[in-house]
Amino acid sequence: MKSVSIVIPPDKSISHRAVMLASISKGSTRIKNILMAEDIKRTIEAFRAMGVKISIYRHVTQVDVVVRGVGMVGLKKPAKPLYLGNSGTTMRILPGILAGQDFEVVLEGDESLSKRPMQRITVPLKKMGVKIEGHREENIERRAEEIKPPLKIRGGKLKAIKYNSKIASAQVKSCILLAGLFADGITHVTEPEKSRDHTERMLAMFGCKVRDEGLKVSLKGPVCLRSPGVIEIPGDISSAAFFIVAGCISPGAKIIIKNVGLNPTRIGILDILKKMGANVSLKFKVTPRLLSGQESLKLEPVGDIVVKSSRFKGIAISPKEVVRAIDEIPVIMVAACFAKGRTIIKGIQELRVKETDRVESMVTNLRKIGADIKVKGELIVINGGKLLTSASVSSFGDHRTAMSMMVAGLGAKGKVIVTDLDCINKSFPNFLDILNKLN
Ligand code: S3P
Repeated sequence: MKSVSIVIPPDKSISHRAVMLASISKGSTRIKNILMAEDIKRTIEAFRAMGVKISIYRHVTQVDVVVRGVGMVGLKKPAKPLYLGNSGTTMRILPGILAGQDFEVVLEGDESLSKRPMQRITVPLKKMGVKIEGHREENIERRAEEIKPPLKIRGGKLKAIKYNSKIASAQVKSCILLAGLFADGITHVTEPEKSRDHTERMLAMFGCKVRDEGLKVSLKGPVCLRSPGVIEIPGDISSAAFFIVAGCISPGAKIIIKNVGLNPTRIGILDILKKMGANVSLKFKVTPRLLSGQESLKLEPVGDIVVKSSRFKGIAISPKEVVRAIDEIPVIMVAACFAKGRTIIKGIQELRVKETDRVESMVTNLRKIGADIKVKGELIVINGGKLLTSASVSSFGDHRTAMSMMVAGLGAKGKVIVTDLDCINKSFPNFLDILNKLN
């Protein structure tokens, strides 16, 4: 592989939040370098259907949008149910905003999104006084009930709550914080491990004081958000992850990945791969050191990642590390297949409720190409160093499974064919173009 410099797509999590907060703020916001992929299109369409004017400007190297905010309670009842496609982030965060609007709305998703658990947001929202219902499904094995989309939400007057979430989830935390904007008093959310904090940082940019005490975050409502004017979205570390692993496993490679978001709550992948022996270095442009006091809440650290061909060794990955690399575990599983020795990944339960069951999809696929990989309760055990060979595998309709298996194919002897690749458009429409640039 040759030495290349690449630009990966803008951050999906930050793009969603930028559209959402800009829509309910006072003033106009130019969102520079927004991700124009399926999930963000669903968020944009949802707000357009509720009366927000959003203009799209396509430039040669990036897309910008201008959102004309309608204010905190200025959204209009949509004419029909809002269709959110495959976007779990929209389905889980948007209800926090709808909770404060004076109308009833139904949120629908595609087949995969309609299977994803929503009780994690319906329980706290109900405690805040929201009328929210979904499709009830009984899990006879676990003697438990789950709520799945479609969700019907009737917003209104909200109570501030102190919520202790059992799951480390930025989607749950964000949903409650956004509902907290409309409630009288202080809304607190505590989580077992620190999840990504983009909502907290972006709320600060829109003039809302968020108290961040690590595992506990809080804000005092009611709040009136004000547009900061311009927001610039950095590259998505979750998309960079595929090329970090690709660079490490390719002999003689050097890849420079430009302008990637390096938020401390997102860079678990770098810490994990460095422990495995990856030759990765960072060149910060907006550095964590520059961020002090109030500013620390406002900015997202950004920089270039330089990756060189490396030799991996197997390591143990803890549940805390999994939270900081939740979307990157599939490609970390690929890295572990190329490592000398055993890798153990602990705390994998949340991977089972992503776009697909990613434990199942990755274990099935990696076994098919010859990897030694087992699941033991809440552990994944990978004995690295086995020769990976050609096979046809499926994406299972999941973008991260698809791209991880394409990376596995780079290091395999023989051709790995990944079928059902359309799902890549969810987050990384030009993935194959960049991958081809490397060969
Ligand atoms: C996201 C949070 C994560 C992640 C998802 C995007 C977000 O989900 O897996 O792709 O933008 O808040 P959880 O918060 O449910 O872990």
